[in-house]
Formats: sequence, C-alpha cells, structure tokens
Amino acid sequence: MTWDARQLGEQTGRTILITGANSGIGLEAARDLVGRGACVVLAVRDTAKGEQARARLHGPGSASVVELDLADLDQVRRCAQRLRDEHESLAALVCNAGIMGGPLQLSAQGFERQMATNHLGHAALVTALWPLLHTSAGRVVLVSSIAARSGGLTAATTRDELVAPVPYRPQQVYADTKQANLLFARELHRRGAVAGSPVTTVAVHPGVSSTNLFRRTVQGNGLSLLAPVASLLSRVALQSAAAGAQPTLRGLHSSTPGGSYVGPTRLGQSRGRPELVDLPATATDPATAARLWELTEQVLDTPLPV
Ligand SMILES: NC(=O)c1ccc[n+]([C@@H]2O[C@H](COP(=O)([O-])OP(=O)(O)OC[C@H]3O[C@@H](n4cnc5c(N)ncnc54)[C@H](OP(=O)(O)O)[C@@H]3O)[C@@H](O)[C@H]2O)c1
Repeated sequence: MTWDARQLGEQTGRTILITGANSGIGLEAARDLVGRGACVVLAVRDTAKGEQARARLHGPGSASVVELDLADLDQVRRCAQRLRDEHESLAALVCNAGIMGGPLQLSAQGFERQMATNHLGHAALVTALWPLLHTSAGRVVLVSSIAARSGGLTAATTRDELVAPVPYRPQQVYADTKQANLLFARELHRRGAVAGSPVTTVAVHPGVSSTNLFRRTVQGNGLSLLAPVASLLSRVALQSAAAGAQPTLRGLHSSTPGGSYVGPTRLGQSRGRPELVDLPATATDPATAARLWELTEQVLDTPLPV
C-alpha cells in the first residue's frame, strides 16, 4: 500500500531535532511535524534565519532554535552538550543539512567543507547525542541523494582522499558525501542491531526538489547573476520542497524498518511518493562501509557510538 504522510499521525510529546531546518526540505519536515504536535529543535548555523523559520511554523507543537555549525567540530560538541543539558531524551535526529559543490573551502578543522558538513559533522552529532537517542529508543534519519550512485569511496579510500581530495572535483566530492551518508547509515544500523541497541537508523533521499541547494551552488560558482533564473527554473521543473520532505517523514514513521532506504520512485527516483527503495551499488559493500567508519573515527578522534 502506498504510504501517505497522514499515517504518521500525532507526534505530541516527541522531541525531534532537524539539522539545516531553516530552509528547504528540513523546513518543510519541521512544518509538518510541528503541525502534528512535535517539539522540533531547529539546529541551524545562523540563528537569525532559524528564528525567521520558527516564526513560520504553527502548532499545536512547538519549535526552538539551537546554533549548530556542522563545519566546526568544536561547535558541534558545544551544541550537543547544550542539548544534553536541556533535554532528557530525543525521539529522532534528522541529519538533513547539506551543501553541494562550489569552490574548495575548508572547515574550521581544515577538512574539505562538503565532507565536513554533510558527513563528518553529522557523524559527530549522532555520536554526541547517542545517549539521548538511547533513552527514548530513538531514530536517526540520514538524508542522502541519488548523487550517491556516483560516489567514489572504496575499501581502499585514504584519509587524505576523504578530507583533502586532490584534485578537488566539487560534484564528485558531493557524490562522495552522499555515498558516505548511506554507508554510515548502513553501518550504524548494522552495529546497532549487533549490539542490541534500541536506536534505529534509516536513510532517505528527496528526489530532486526545489530548494536553495541549487541556487547556492550557482552562486558558489561565481554565477550570482544566474541565481534568480536557476531559482525560477527549479521551481517550475522540480518537485516542491514539501514533496521532497515526504521521504524524511516516512523515515520517521515506526512502520519503516531500521536499515531501510526511502525515496521517490518516478522518473529515475527524481520525484513522487516516498517508497522503500534499494540502496545503490555504491552503498552495499560492507568493506567500504567499515573503511568509512574507521576513517571517520580517526578524523573525529573519537569512537563512533556502537
Ligand atoms: N534539493 C534536492 O533536490 C536534494 C536532492 C538530494 C539531496 N538533497 C539533500 O537534502 C538536504 C537538504 O537540502 P535542501 O535541498 O533542503 O537545501 P537547502 O534549502 O540549501 O538547505 C540546506 C540546509 O543546510 C544548512 N547548512 C549548510 N551548511 C551548514 C552547516 N555548516 N551547519 C549547519 N547547517 C548547514 C543550510 O543552512 P543555511 O541556510 O544557513 O545555509 C540549510 O538550512 C541536503 O542534505 C541535500 O544534500 C537535496
């Protein structure tokens, strides 16, 4: 039977954190969840933008804003500490924030910025919030992309190839980060199941949706004058951000088993209702997943949660 967001039902009493929730898919997921009664924490790098987003969300649930810059691991740890101080449990953590392409930039710790934001920062956040997730038998949702099909990470990937790729090919690095989201989700689920953890993990992808992601990529490539055109084209040609949020919402539903991958199935998985889909071949190799786990622990200099 086709899944419908109405099945998600009431979310009263559940605290759900969404990274990058001031814009696009994260904002639309937050809007839906607050409307169902959830307490949604908007984890954003710019709290002014977060407050503007919060003002656009309407109850019966509630929204709060917390500062989170995934491209700064010290800031991720401070944010997680604050969340542990202020909350006793966390029903779900949606690792949604992301950047795509653009010129080479480095994170606060000197790592390539796309990998730092899309994968490393989220891996650090999941690790630091694991105790809260454990308490509430929570769920981790990782937002990947059909770009993961082109990911180039392998069981032989080196630390430098992960965090300081040469040559820097922006779209390939983006694909690698989205492959990393899937490999991390797979390994987190597998290890959690072996350890008997109550926390479950699901990966999702939003198809191709009209958000700020493409506009920012155009701007990042020094083509600011084309940004309004890109924005208009994406609104006409792509599915809406609200449609792109449906896989995230299905990923949060208890009927979606841990270890699943959810995405649309029409037009090469670019649009449509959220269905359970197969992982791309780039995300199925256990040795590659284990290698990414090992490299991530090395780079973060901390053991991952399970
Ligand atoms: N749109 C699509 O078609 C599509 C397709 C496949 C996958 N995805 C994935 O969907 C997710 C959401 O993207 P979107 O399309 O909704 O794009 P978006 O509208 O650009 O939203 C991205 C969000 O990530 C935040 N962010 C960026 N860098 C951050 C950092 N260092 N720390 C914390 N937050 C940060 C942004 O904050 P600011 O507003 O402050 O920049 C923004 O809130 C991403 O993971 C993306 O890879 C999107």
